Amino acid sequence: MENKVIKAALLGLGTVGTGVYKVLKNQEAEMEAKIGREVKIAKVLVRNLEKAAAKVDDPSILTNNWEEVLNDPEISIVIELMGGIEPARTYILAALNAGKHVVSANKDLIAVHGKELLDAAEVNHVDFLFEAAVAGGIPIIRPLKQCLAGNHMTEVMGIVNGTTNFILTKMTQEGMEFKDALALATELGYAEADPTADIEGLDAGRKVAILASVAFNSRVVFDDVYIEGITKISAKDIRYAKEMGCDIKLLGVARQGEDGVEAYVCPMLIPSSHPLASVNDSYNAVFVHGDAVEDAMFFGRGAGELPTASAVVGDIFDIVRNIQAECCARIGCTCYKSLPVKKMEDTRNRYFIRLQVENRCGVLAEITAIFAKYQVSVAQIIQKETRVEGCAEIVVITEEVREGDFRTAMSELKNRASIRKVSSLLRVYGK
Ligand code: NAP
Ligand code: HSE
Repeated sequence: MENKVIKAALLGLGTVGTGVYKVLKNQEAEMEAKIGREVKIAKVLVRNLEKAAAKVDDPSILTNNWEEVLNDPEISIVIELMGGIEPARTYILAALNAGKHVVSANKDLIAVHGKELLDAAEVNHVDFLFEAAVAGGIPIIRPLKQCLAGNHMTEVMGIVNGTTNFILTKMTQEGMEFKDALALATELGYAEADPTADIEGLDAGRKVAILASVAFNSRVVFDDVYIEGITKISAKDIRYAKEMGCDIKLLGVARQGEDGVEAYVCPMLIPSSHPLASVNDSYNAVFVHGDAVEDAMFFGRGAGELPTASAVVGDIFDIVRNIQAECCARIGCTCYKSLPVKKMEDTRNRYFIRLQVENRCGVLAEITAIFAKYQVSVAQIIQKETRVEGCAEIVVITEEVREGDFRTAMSELKNRASIRKVSSLLRVYGK
């Protein structure tokens, strides 16, 4: 009789690893009816056996020896949830080369070494799935590779970092300054002890690299993504944005045009009427635009123990179904193009600028003269007298202009004696 149990190993038993263990347990009773086989966690690789013992029913499945997992011929699925580049990369490659299927949530690794891992899966005719690597519990990789495969995708963008969305929501709704909102995010467990990857936009940048690669069928790596974080945003910027009909969100944007791919992460003004403007707290949302589907939006929990485990277990179940149907490695690397990735200077955007200027006649004319020289056209302007050292605060939103030209205009402007300070410079999403 066919063995109904498929053995799997977890690498890592932290937030997501523990979640996967729990979700698989919750599914135990109906798993066989649902996917035809039962998945059993036969080994769990951890560093600290004692710390992990309380998290599993049977501590004898714990090991701190990778070779025990690799060399166990009964383990057919390896679930990598350790994070980081090494040893995760080495372990995943070894598992794939040993003919084991791999599931991973490791965006840091996939955004840099995705091609190498997918190539190894193809050569060995096994699955390498990574739904949880982008936007945690929100299904987006599989929809792009499968349900939306009939589209020519032109844009995939959204809010893909929960920590920064929580911080910006507090700054918007409660008028908090960045450092107070970050302290609250840390206190509530949203931000990690070292929040750099989140607040500097690196985590979102990794997700954008993966999303762009999958959406546009062309490899985009982490280094291709232009990244700015949210550390310089002030409550005042958010108030001005509101006055101008917008909210400020950390957006990851990837676009495919005739001259190549754009991929960037930065805090942007977005019209308050846009559905993404009301995605608040630690929620994530991804917007896609394809020539056939037009607009589609995916919303939900982008992180956390059970939401992320939900995506990982979906991948595990997919592999089990593939094993059952003897059709593994059906959908591997989908990057069959080599599109150029544009430099940020060559993208076209609208800009929000907050300036402290001398409050005397002719200053506005000076600003608009420099703008005109570089094709920067003003769309909205607010001037408020500050009564500090004869200064006025001017806030401008421009029409769309090439970023390189806008930067040249700003450097010329900064050299003028009448321009005391450029307090903020942000991009505006949308035409
Ligand atoms: P975590 O809580 O820090 O857990 C990592 C686990 O891996 C810990 O159990 C750790 O053991 C273990 N580990 C690390 N290096 C190891 C090694 N060399 N050998 C054996 N075990 C090792 O991390 P996490 O939040 O669960 O994240 C796991 C992965 O999921 C990461 O790639 C992350 O980017 C991704 N992800 C996380 C979330 C989320 O909400 N947390 C969402 C989406 C994706 P010790 O405890 O002994 O150090
Ligand atoms: N640190 C990430 C976030 C979760 O805040 O969204 C893991 O991807």
